[in-house]
Amino acid sequence: MSTYSEDKRKVTTRRFQEMKERGEKIAMLTSYDFSLARLVDEAGIDAILVGDSASNVMIGNATTLPITLDQMIYHARCVSNGVKRALVVCDMPFGSYQGNSTEALASAVRIMKESGAEAVKIEGGSEVKESIERIISAGIPVMGHLGLTPQSINKFGTYNVRAKEEAEANKLIEDAKMLEEIGCFAVTLEKIPAELASRVSRELSIPTIGIGAGNGCDGQVLVLQDMLGINKGFSPKFLRRYADLATVIDEAVGSYIGDVKSGDFPNENECY
Ligand code: KIV
Repeated sequence: MSTYSEDKRKVTTRRFQEMKERGEKIAMLTSYDFSLARLVDEAGIDAILVGDSASNVMIGNATTLPITLDQMIYHARCVSNGVKRALVVCDMPFGSYQGNSTEALASAVRIMKESGAEAVKIEGGSEVKESIERIISAGIPVMGHLGLTPQSINKFGTYNVRAKEEAEANKLIEDAKMLEEIGCFAVTLEKIPAELASRVSRELSIPTIGIGAGNGCDGQVLVLQDMLGINKGFSPKFLRRYADLATVIDEAVGSYIGDVKSGDFPNENECY
């Protein structure tokens, strides 16, 4: 286990808060399946997000909108089955919470009962306040998500940096404070100016988890397929690639094809 955290205990939402208080950065990655989630957990990650980015990287959709509640529950179940230490957070997919707070609660309850996830994440601020309050009042931990909220791509029209203008930045600060007040245990800040993210992180007592939001956040999250270099076509400025698995896979599959075609595989030691 290559963990950098001295604390080997199960990560809970309470641990998140303690990490913020002692100034320990929170390391989070996405995962969507049993095998990779197990490896990521064994490597010592603090939290795993079963992101609705599964819609893009697992299903191949152009946006996060089409993924269903059933599909999110399936991915979160696969991840939970592989994880022992990390906190597992499941995204609530588009359409599962925006209608009204009764529907939102029913969706969150399904995620908790059927997937083994320990918290949910919801995109948006004041527009979804009532839904978040209802979910939290049922004892379900909620992570907020502000800044670039990919489920609203059809409203924004682009995936560019958000909250560069004062009015949008002020609304984001108000929303972040509101999310803390109503009881969210953390807030994801996606693709906003680093200075704004630092200010929000300083002013909130709950942790902020950044993606494309600079180094002043209390933690960071990346999509696993992006940081492992599986997703070759996606290279935003904020992404650091820690491996080039696309090349590793290409070479391994190429060698296998060559060995099968030449008759070299299987050899006598690989037969019964
Ligand atoms: O779905 C996802 O992977 C996310 C992260 C980008 C924060 O929401």
